[in-house]
Amino acid sequence: MAQLAGIGVDIVRVEKFNQVIEDNPQALDSIFTEFEQSYCKTSRNRAERLAARFAAKEAVLKALGLGMAKGMNWLDIEVQNVPTGQPILKLGGEVERRALHQGLNSWQLSLSHCREYAIACVSASNEEVVAQGENSEKISK
Ligand SMILES: CC(C)(COP(=O)(O)OP(=O)(O)OC[C@H]1O[C@@H](n2cnc3c(N)ncnc32)[C@H](O)[C@@H]1OP(=O)(O)O)[C@@H](O)C(=O)NCCC(=O)NCCS
Repeated sequence: MAQLAGIGVDIVRVEKFNQVIEDNPQALDSIFTEFEQSYCKTSRNRAERLAARFAAKEAVLKALGLGMAKGMNWLDIEVQNVPTGQPILKLGGEVERRALHQGLNSWQLSLSHCREYAIACVSASNEEVVAQGENSEKISK
C-alpha cells in the first residue's frame, strides 16, 4: 500500500472566474497552462472548470503544507484529463521540487463543480521507484 502523506481540499466561487474572464482574461495566462485553458474552453461551463482547476492548485499547496512559497508558480501545477475524463495532476518547477523533497511522488485528484462552486480534493503519497527508464515500476512502500 502506498503511504498517504498529505491531503488538501479547496473550494472556489465560480463567479470569481466569470469576472476574470470578463474583466481581465490575460490574467488566466499566469494561472492556467495552455492545456488547461484549451480543455476549459471546450465546455459551456468554462468558468466552472477554471474554478475547479484553481481549487486543485490550492489543494496541492495544502497537501504540501505550504502556501504559495518563493519560486513557486501557479503554472507549476497542471490538471490534465485522461480520455475517460478523470483528472490527473502534473507537477513541475519549484512545486515538484518541494514535493519530491517531501518524498511525495504520487498524486490523486478529484474535482466537482456546479454553477456556484467548484471543489477539489487532493491526496499525495510516497511510492518507491525501483527502476529507471521507460519500463520503470513503482512499488508502494
Ligand atoms: C464522471 C461523473 C461522475 C462526473 O460527475 P458529475 O456530477 O456529472 O460532475 P461533477 O461536476 O461532480 O464532476 C465533474 C468532474 O468529474 C471528473 N471526472 C470526469 N470523468 C471522470 C472519471 N471517469 N473518473 C474520475 N473523475 C472524472 C472531471 O474532473 C470533471 O470535471 P472537469 O471535466 O472539469 O475535469 C458523471 O458524469 C458520471 O459519469 N456519472 C455516472 C452516472 C451517470 O451517468 N449519471 C447520469 C444519469 S443519472
